[in-house]
Amino acid sequence: MAKPGNIKRTLHYFWLALMQHKIRTILLLILVPIWIFLSNVVVPYGTSQIIGKLSSGDFIIENYIGILLLTILSAGVNNLAVIRAIDWLDWSLDALGGEYLARLAFTAVINQSMTFHNDRFSGSLTSAANKLPGAFIDFKSNFVWDIYPLILTALFSIGVAAMVCAPFAIILAIYIVIYMTVAIITFYKTRKVDEVLADAENKQTGQLADTITNEMSVKSYARENQEKTRFKTATERTKMAVFGAAKVSLWRNLSMNIINMITFAGLLILIIMSHNWFGLTIANMVFLYSLSNSLLSNVWTINHILRAMNRSFGNAKEMVSILDLPLIIDDKTDKPLKISQAEIEISHIVFEHSGQKKPLFNDFSLTIPSGKSIGLVGVSGSGKTTLTKLLLRFDDVSAGAIYIDGQDIRDVTQKTLREAIAYVPQESSLFHRSVYENIAYGKIGATREEVLRAAKLANADEFIKDLPDGYDTLVGERGVKLSGGQRQRVAIARAILKNAPILVLDEATSALDSESEGLIQGALKNLMKNRTSIVVAHRLSTIASLDEIVVLKDGQIVERGTHQELLKANQEYAKLWSRQSGAFLEK
Ligand SMILES: Nc1ncnc2c1ncn2[C@@H]1O[C@H](COP(=O)(O)OP(=O)(O)OP(=O)(O)O)[C@@H](O)[C@H]1O
Ligand SMILES: [Mg+2]
Repeated sequence: MAKPGNIKRTLHYFWLALMQHKIRTILLLILVPIWIFLSNVVVPYGTSQIIGKLSSGDFIIENYIGILLLTILSAGVNNLAVIRAIDWLDWSLDALGGEYLARLAFTAVINQSMTFHNDRFSGSLTSAANKLPGAFIDFKSNFVWDIYPLILTALFSIGVAAMVCAPFAIILAIYIVIYMTVAIITFYKTRKVDEVLADAENKQTGQLADTITNEMSVKSYARENQEKTRFKTATERTKMAVFGAAKVSLWRNLSMNIINMITFAGLLILIIMSHNWFGLTIANMVFLYSLSNSLLSNVWTINHILRAMNRSFGNAKEMVSILDLPLIIDDKTDKPLKISQAEIEISHIVFEHSGQKKPLFNDFSLTIPSGKSIGLVGVSGSGKTTLTKLLLRFDDVSAGAIYIDGQDIRDVTQKTLREAIAYVPQESSLFHRSVYENIAYGKIGATREEVLRAAKLANADEFIKDLPDGYDTLVGERGVKLSGGQRQRVAIARAILKNAPILVLDEATSALDSESEGLIQGALKNLMKNRTSIVVAHRLSTIASLDEIVVLKDGQIVERGTHQELLKANQEYAKLWSRQSGAFLEK
């Protein structure tokens, strides 16, 4: 459940959303008191005056004109204009404030580092970001229709009652204090069951998302029944939690009912007695009765208000803590990266993945001279991908530094750093957009010719033309409708289009058959000309012709040199090569 600090921050963000639309907010704050005053004071007053006159035996219709007009007009204006205007303002703030917060959440999530994303389920991030605008809308509507009216009703009822009959007002005030105290005390008790319910619901959502994202494993292992059983456990927990909450709610409401009944009876008796004690007129008796009646029925909403508030804060909790999270990878300055030679210098870096027992890189250094290409090889887990990610500053090193043309990559903006690097990741995933859009992603404002040229160079044009809608074919979520090799070619086309001074290919052609790879190799070699490049590959034929090959093992360089030199040295690389050669041997 949301902690006081988190509630304060939640209110801060809700307030920010409202302050984007000050005039609407102020109008709302003014109109609600008018609504409550008309409906809970003026109309009951008019009605009580009419009944008062009638009870005194006045049946002459002309005597009623003024009071009738006042009552009917107030009720009419209230319903036709004031409440409708509040309704409209409330809706419009839903739309405007909701949009503001949805965008705020989106920006916060996409600006967070890769480490942040790796540590979280994308499903729960999506739901946290989605819940924030909903929580705002619920809280605001709760405020406009319940909390604010309740406060105003209490103030007006007690204030007006005090003018008519002071003891009556005192009893109303005492009632409110008792009722609120009981409501708040029981609320804290019932929060526990709400927490259990929220927790059960979260687990159920998590279970659902986990199964759906792993549908492939479920299918291929034919584990539908096991997953159903697993999910049933989750739904049963939710069901029991709902019953638990319902029971507590029943008992609480019952006790509140009893307090209300006693108060209602007490007030009725007081109204009758005050005729004798304070000489109250019939009209005022009716008026007091109406006041207390509307107060009692409004106070009843406190249970609903507290629960709704609790729910809103609970729903906003996760996203608010993300909004308040400092960016792990932040721009320290707004200095752009200035590329002259595109020389990369990795200097004495120390880096440890969160949760790892010992640093992956400990005093690691490597320089890639301007325009040269190096191949990174090494067994799985030796740190190749991590090194490329550090260059892109998806994470920061804990000691040492990475320089590009002498500039520490932490001292330039992430935007300009990443603009300088065309990166094809090991797991290239595509947007659920058209193939064309996926390639064009590499360059803002790319022309159709440029996109098609890149696709051709990446040996992708042919298969794309054969897709059902050609370049306009949607590729499915993460690109699932394409084969692994096709996805890689789209990713390479995107990188070719980007035309950046530094090229980083992490197993970019691993899913291609030798023939397709051979076809792209030419294009990649062209691309690498005059560009500083890092190419990671398990298939050694991919990197054999590069300027230098670096063999990594447990985050350390165990060998480096050209293909020929390394073969001659007859160490790690030569062993790997002899194991792979034959099938992929390339001259
Ligand atoms: N986000 C992460 N959090 C924690 N540990 C990680 C993370 N990413 C990688 N590692 C660990 O760091 C080590 C190096 O991983 P890395 O991905 O750099 O290896 P690699 O050389 O690219 O391997 P492969 O050839 O299989 O792609 C591995 O032991 C891996 O388990
Ligand atoms: Mg890797």
